[in-house]
Amino acid sequence: MKIKFRVILSISIIAVTTLMFVSCASDPDSSGLEYMPDMYRSPAIEPYVDYGEVRGRENKDLKLKRSAMIPPSGTIPYYGTDSATVALMMPYARKANVAMKSTHGMYDAVLTKENEYDFALADKNPLKLTSDNMGDLFDTGKKLFTANCAHCHGAKGNGNGPMVVSGAYVGVPDYANLTNLSDGQIFYSIYYGKGMMGAHNSLLDKREIWTLVHYIRKFQDTDYGTSQSAKALEAN
Ligand code: HEC
Repeated sequence: MKIKFRVILSISIIAVTTLMFVSCASDPDSSGLEYMPDMYRSPAIEPYVDYGEVRGRENKDLKLKRSAMIPPSGTIPYYGTDSATVALMMPYARKANVAMKSTHGMYDAVLTKENEYDFALADKNPLKLTSDNMGDLFDTGKKLFTANCAHCHGAKGNGNGPMVVSGAYVGVPDYANLTNLSDGQIFYSIYYGKGMMGAHNSLLDKREIWTLVHYIRKFQDTDYGTSQSAKALEAN
């Protein structure tokens, strides 16, 4: 009885030890033998996962294909329940011109033959400057401008960024000469692009673009946003 028990015990120890070694893999990126594949790979469809090879089974049709789908057209992201934020983030009502399809890559946009840039003249900045939010808005504006615009427009907004200095780009305006533009037109140009400037609507959301509109005003008038500035009174 005792011997039988010992034999069973030794066989079990050998079996477990062998299993432990067999399940190891020399490739440091491999998870080794998967006893419970569901725990390694979620059976739910997730974005950014290559479903071309799941649990060792290859599916050539799905391999290297994007699993994240483009949302159905007209889908509106959820921005919470604050009505001012929701109103600000609603899809932009102004349309791109038909010419912008090829010049500015507006392949999926709703296009119009009208020149909506002219209509945008009347659009006001819905992101109002207040003494409470001003500091944050200008700080965020500076970060967004440095990351997305300064290489062309220059850190001082005078149209002399490194891309222009290097000779790669020409025709970048000095903001100081653009005081005749309305907030709505500045927004439109950043959103859809203008001339040699590309569209930024896939890079920046509406709040970010309106923040940049305030930041550009600061280049044009250092008092912008302070009580001394007539423009600040106009904006509020
Ligand atoms: C690749 C270079 C480049 C980048 C990046 C760029 N711009 Fe421009 N921008 C231009 C050029 C060139 C023009 C002149 C377009 C024209 O009038 O034909 C211009 C024009 C403008 C105008 C004037 C628009 C009008 O209606 O006359 C504004 C405002 C502006 N840019 C803001 C921005 C902001 C804000 C960013 C960053 C989000 C940005 N730009 C990024 C090159 C650039």
